[in-house]
Amino acid sequence: MIAWLSGLWSGGTAAVEPATLRDAAPLAQLHGASFHRGWGEGEFETMLTERNTLVHRLRLGRKIIGFAVSRMAADEAEILSIAVAAGQRGRGLSRNLLLTHLGHLAGRGVRTVFLEVEENNRPARRLYDRAGFTVAGRRERYYRQPDGEQLNALLMRRDLS
Ligand SMILES: CC(C)(COP(=O)(O)OP(=O)(O)OC[C@H]1O[C@@H](n2cnc3c(N)ncnc32)[C@H](O)[C@@H]1OP(=O)(O)O)[C@@H](O)C(=O)NCCC(=O)NCCS
Repeated sequence: MIAWLSGLWSGGTAAVEPATLRDAAPLAQLHGASFHRGWGEGEFETMLTERNTLVHRLRLGRKIIGFAVSRMAADEAEILSIAVAAGQRGRGLSRNLLLTHLGHLAGRGVRTVFLEVEENNRPARRLYDRAGFTVAGRRERYYRQPDGEQLNALLMRRDLS
């Protein structure tokens, strides 16, 4: 009963849906809160109108609590960004977001998906491992943190079939 009530209060089940132009502002806000170099509203507006870019939102009630963004080229795609709002992390929500996003990429004819992830980003590594991505390469000191620290990147790939 309490779980049901709290589910109702927080908007029920999280839905994964194609994002629209009207989502640009909340998406930019969420991106800025999740990454050092945030993407602005204008960047999201551009991506939401480009035919080769696929953007999904994770919606809980009326709130956007996550997103996944990919760019497609021929039968390949790169996941450019994926995030879940800090207050909603650790609840397994990213898995459905990623798998739904991959399903739509497959539907658009994509056969191979690439992404880059910081080597020590444990939640993201776990998410991608469990979704069937494998390490295809490693880039030393690829990310520079605001404090000057340089972190390694892993290139991961997954074939869609
Ligand atoms: C990466 C991210 C999208 C994952 O979203 P999430 O909804 O919190 O993910 P989940 O709850 O599904 O957890 C993913 C896995 O990581 C594990 N995990 C969560 N926090 C962890 C931590 N601090 N250390 C190790 N593993 C952790 C979870 O247990 C889960 O593994 P499991 O499926 O074996 O149980 C989210 O953490 C995020 O937005 N991070 C900031 C942005 C980012 O780094 N994006 C990825 C860029 S490549």
